[in-house]
Order: sequence, then structure tokens, then C-alpha cells
Amino acid sequence: VSHETQVVRVDPDNPDPAAIDLAAEVIRAGGLVAFPTETVYGLGADASDHRAVARIFDAKGRPATNPLIVHGEDSAALRAAVSAWPGAAETLARTFWPGPLTLILPRSRLIPDVVTAGRHTVGVRVPDSEVARRLINQAACPVAAPSANRSSGVSPTRAEHVLKDLGGRIDLILDAGQTPVGIESTVLDLTSDPPRVLRPGAITAGQLSSVLGVEVSGASISSAGGAVAASPGQMEVHYAPRVPVTLVEPASFDHLTWPSALRYGLLVAGHRLPEGIGTPAVRVDWTEPALASRELYAMLRQWDEAGLETVFVVLPPADDAWTAVRDRLWRASRRWASAGRPRAEEP
Ligand code: TXA
Ligand code: MG
Repeated sequence: VSHETQVVRVDPDNPDPAAIDLAAEVIRAGGLVAFPTETVYGLGADASDHRAVARIFDAKGRPATNPLIVHGEDSAALRAAVSAWPGAAETLARTFWPGPLTLILPRSRLIPDVVTAGRHTVGVRVPDSEVARRLINQAACPVAAPSANRSSGVSPTRAEHVLKDLGGRIDLILDAGQTPVGIESTVLDLTSDPPRVLRPGAITAGQLSSVLGVEVSGASISSAGGAVAASPGQMEVHYAPRVPVTLVEPASFDHLTWPSALRYGLLVAGHRLPEGIGTPAVRVDWTEPALASRELYAMLRQWDEAGLETVFVVLPPADDAWTAVRDRLWRASRRWASAGRPRAEEP
């Protein structure tokens, strides 16, 4: 279905009620609205309307096997979407909501199969965004929303990214500028014992463990940094730009011979490395995880647009604070992992 996608600018802290009304009306009528959250832009529909939710899968080209997160304006509203609310959920909701944490819980009958991909569980979260919460409040329904990108691509942190990926496929975009966190929420499965992180995010396994007083199991991180096939949507190739990304461990850095014939990029995350290494066309250094996550996806998109032939990425250390960024960088490299491609060679 191709039609005009309307873009409406809103103030992130104090959105115009008329814009919120318009967007809520689209959702109530079974349409699709892209809206900002604190993490990335989401593509929202009425979670209780199976036809509306099916449109999300169509617009994204998303496999029907990958379940959606249900968003509520507060934790009380989300109780209707779940059939159990254990003490751990209450503790985490009080500590981290609104915020970038999704809880996997047994689903209620309000939530149709299409949302959960037929599973008995549902992911729920309260986004920390005025625009998102006012929209959900005004729509007066739980809102199912995946990231507002084409399936397996890079999640959108600006309305321009959404328009580029989904323009003509959705009804409306609420544009509130750059999203502050920049990578998707931490997904925590509360139906397993101990609770298990299915997708790392800004709220770390260490923070969750200390609040719950039990060691949550982190997503099993492969040696290269990616969380291994944890949640159904965590395919290896994900969050992937088109430009080949080559991961470099800092230990092997001194021994690399940089390609002289290529236009390449260099990203250094979580390490202080000297200037003047190789001759990158673009170099970025991120020393803080929060800054890295905020900038990461826009950077992946820029690399694609800059016509670079490859990008070398020095991975951040494998510690709690960097886990989520490390995971996304690893995934960004997987599209090309087995294909022949330019490399910095060890002599
Ligand atoms: O920050 C976010 O979480 C953003 C914003 C828009 O809220 N949403 C987002 O949704 O990233 P999506 O659909 O792109 O990613 C949801 C992830 C997928 O990996 C999906 O497989 C997993 O959550 N998930 C959803 N429901 C699940 C369930 N019942 N069991 C296990 N994993 C689930
Ligand atoms: Mg996504």
C-alpha cells in the first residue's frame, strides 16, 4: 500500500495537543504512527487490533515469527496486557519505568497472537518520552511498536531515518528530533529463573542484578561481543549497515597494515588510541558508552551515505557498561562476516 506519509513536528517536552490528537486518531482508526521514544523511534498501532498490528509487519517487511513490544503510559495500564505480575516486575517497574527496559511476562487475552508471534509471553514497557506517553494516553489503548525501520536494518534515531525507510508505507510520523538513548531497550525475560537478558541495552545486567538482589543471566555474549540468538528477533545480521564493517580487537591494533587504496572509516569505541593511525577518510572516537549509543545508528547510516568502502571498528572493552554497544557493533559486522571483503591484514 503506497500513500502519502504525513510528518508533524512536535516539541519533545511539550507536544502540541492537536498533533497528539491527530496521531491518536490515526491509531484508533487502525493506522500506523511512528513516534519518538527515549531509545529509538517506534512504529505504533493499537495492540488490541490484529488487523492494525498486521500492517506493522507489512510495512517493515518483518517476519511474523518476531514478536512486538507493547507500550503503556504507566505500569498500571500494562497490567491488562499481562496475566501475571510477579514481585520482580513490580520492583523493576518502580525502579526503571518510565525507561529503556522491556519485561517479558505471561500475556493476557487482550493481546492477540499476531503481537506475540503466537507465544504465551508478551514484552511490555513504559517509554520515557512525553510524546510517546501522551500519545498512548490519548489513543487509550496499549500500543504495539517495533523500531520504525525496515526489518533487519538500522533502527531510527531521527524522524528523517523513519521517512527514508518507511515513507509511503505508514500514515504519520511525529518528529521530535534526535532520541536521547539511541539504542533499543534492554529486554529482560522474567519467565525464566533466574531472569535472563535477551537483548542488552542502556540498563545493564549489573544494574538489574543489584536491584533484584539476584544475579540475572546476561545474554550469552559471544567472544566477539554479540548476544547469541537470545530473543526471537535477535538474528545475527541485524542493525546492519550496507558498508562492510570489520571488527578489530585493540590487542592486534599495532600489527595491522592499513589498506592504502581504500576509502575507509575508523571507529574507536572505549579506548584511547593515538591520532595518525592509518589514513581513514572518517575517524570517530567515543570514550563514553552513553555518547556512543546515542550516536551509533546515525553514524552507521552516514557511513552508508558517505560511500566508504569499508569501516574498521575497534571494539570497546567487554564490561557491563559497554555490553550493549559492543553487541550492536558486532551485529553491524555480521552481514559481511563470511563474504570476501577488504581487510586490514596482520603481516
Ligand atoms: O527500545 C525499544 O525496545 C524499541 C522502542 C520503539 O520501544 N522497540 C524495539 O522493538 O526495539 P523491536 O520490535 O525492534 O525489538 C523488540 C525485541 C525483538 O528482539 C523481539 O524479538 C523481542 O524484543 N521480543 C518481543 N516480544 C518478545 C517475547 N514475548 N519474547 C521474547 N522476545 C520478545
Ligand atoms: Mg527493531
